Amino acid sequence: MSELVRFSVAMPDELLMQFDNLVARRGLAKNRSEVIRDLVREALVDEEWDDPDAEIVGTLTIVFAHHATDLQSKLDSIQHAHHEKIISAMHVHLDAHNCLEVIVLRGKSADVRDITESILGVKGVKHGRLTATTTGAFL
Ligand code: NI
Repeated sequence: MSELVRFSVAMPDELLMQFDNLVARRGLAKNRSEVIRDLVREALVDEEWDDPDAEIVGTLTIVFAHHATDLQSKLDSIQHAHHEKIISAMHVHLDAHNCLEVIVLRGKSADVRDITESILGVKGVKHGRLTATTTGAFL
């Protein structure tokens, strides 16, 4: 664990009030310092994600109708073709018609994006969102 360094921050009082509201919404376990650290890490993850060669970890969540023609088989084919970068997948039967999958990807940012676009491009995928995180070098 690295040493904590204290520094002061100046900001407009209105912005500080909104920041304190954000801190309050995150609950009792978080204070100003912890929320600032979270926001800095988030900015660093976003920056890392912009580098196509950076090693990142992402979770892709998709929703689709399981009875759409060949859909599950197409999704499976894409995942098998990239098995070395897809480290886990979870399938949930949401209701009588809809399925949700959470796919965990690990690899170069550019590759994770390409695989994500292939999956989102399959006809019948109704919604999808990729959340990027990092392998943890600066966390
Ligand atoms: Ni299902």
